[in-house]
Amino acid sequence: MADNWVKAADRSALGDGEVTGVVVAGHEIALYAIDGEIFATDDICTHAYAKLSDGWMERGEIECPLHAGRFEIKTGKATAPPCIDNVKTYPVRVEGDEIQVNLG
Ligand code: FES
Repeated sequence: MADNWVKAADRSALGDGEVTGVVVAGHEIALYAIDGEIFATDDICTHAYAKLSDGWMERGEIECPLHAGRFEIKTGKATAPPCIDNVKTYPVRVEGDEIQVNLG
């Protein structure tokens, strides 16, 4: 993957168990804090237009607020209908207080 790390948010702005939506270089991305680790996926659901960052995070999954489809946050795998297509994930690193995502 190309070395295209871009700042997405301040680490201190994301509490554990929280999800937030950000726009990074024109990409709508959801950031998740789970047990001290940060993960990133596309923010837009693969089923229709809804922001996963407006959904509910539980047991490592995000539930879409529109039709209650679900995705595994770490892998992006669709785990509950009506979602069939996986959601894209992004590599994440933390540098100081910066959450950075690799857009590839
Ligand atoms: Fe997400 Fe339908 S838009 S489940």
